[in-house]
Amino acid sequence: IFNNVEHLPPDALFDIKKRLSQDTRPVKVDLGIGAYRDNSGKPWVLPSVRSAESQLQKDPNFNHEYLPIAGLPSFTTGAAKTIFGDDYDSTRVISVQSISGTGALHIAAKFIEKILPGRIVYLSNPTWPNHKAIFEGQRLTTAQYPYWNASTKSLQLDGFLDTVKTAPEGSIFVLHACAHNPTGLDPSKDQWAQILDKMVEKNHIVLFDSAYQGFATGDLDRDAYAVRLGLTKLQKVAPVFVCQSFAKNVGMYGERVGCFHLVIPDQSVEINASVKASLSSQLAKIVRSEVSNPPAYGAKIVSTILNTPELNKQWHADMVTMSSRINSMRHQLRDHLVELGTPGNWDHIVGQCGMFSFTALTPEMVQRLEQNHAVYMVSSGRASIAGLNEGNVLYVAKAIDEVVRH
Ligand code: LMR
Repeated sequence: IFNNVEHLPPDALFDIKKRLSQDTRPVKVDLGIGAYRDNSGKPWVLPSVRSAESQLQKDPNFNHEYLPIAGLPSFTTGAAKTIFGDDYDSTRVISVQSISGTGALHIAAKFIEKILPGRIVYLSNPTWPNHKAIFEGQRLTTAQYPYWNASTKSLQLDGFLDTVKTAPEGSIFVLHACAHNPTGLDPSKDQWAQILDKMVEKNHIVLFDSAYQGFATGDLDRDAYAVRLGLTKLQKVAPVFVCQSFAKNVGMYGERVGCFHLVIPDQSVEINASVKASLSSQLAKIVRSEVSNPPAYGAKIVSTILNTPELNKQWHADMVTMSSRINSMRHQLRDHLVELGTPGNWDHIVGQCGMFSFTALTPEMVQRLEQNHAVYMVSSGRASIAGLNEGNVLYVAKAIDEVVRH
């Protein structure tokens, strides 16, 4: 019965981790999966997380009971405030805890399949590969909108806007809220306004994927700019979806802490309340059939951080620690390449933001980096800058210099 089942290739991102762990060379550099590392190359448990964990351990009421189907209310409300702002209009927002950002996208895909069938889901070209897998896994049709112009290493705004214009009315556009993965290139404020105005004209539904809030500028509120502008512009016409991950910005990678938010179009108070109740029931059914109820431990930690003023302050400072170290690594890498006289212009490394740089190295160069220098990154040329530190950045620059000249 199973003899002819296709053997699929391994996941490109997680296979990098596997190859690296099997590599016995003494010097190896992991620029693969987007996960923050400290200056000694080690995973970093945020000080705000350590404090929240010790608070939880001391709580005499702590237990491992089930959460409600929609998740821990103090967590989902705190998550909504983090992305929408403290004064968000909760009468129009339904928030459901999810298995990190991937789980939130999966809830979105199931919801679209059931409530909005037949709509095309537009993804940026390029995007995080799992986007396509998640939506197509629910039998939704995906298409691409132009995003990265490889020759200018900038946003392909005209092509992007053209696609928004020509897409069937009411299509779904997945937008990276900030710190675009893989390019590290975000629209400017003016470009966001143009993009969102066009979405309004065509009654498109915007789905913001917010996996890196805080990594673009170091400031969680500034990084919510596009989402908040989107909510204002799209308020009357269309729902907005937000898929929010706390994997990176709270460093809770393996705990899978996330939230799906559905913002309904603004009508009268009565209609809003009744639409919200119906949609909440639909989302509850999706969650119940998939995970029954979401995992509690990580959500309790994040909720403690979001709802305790001094821990929240510490978290904002932790975010600055992470984003400024990454930024300093961008500059050091660019400066070393310039000093080495590596052919090409490397300014895009410092112009990009978030965890990644789209280095413009070719797949052949990336392969040579791995084979000859044990420097691992995605074949598209995406490097997780968080994997650089004072001890390896010159080594990586010299390795890049060698493969570029080869
Ligand atoms: C990445 O793009 O490296 C991360 O989002 C990790 C993942 O789950 O793919």
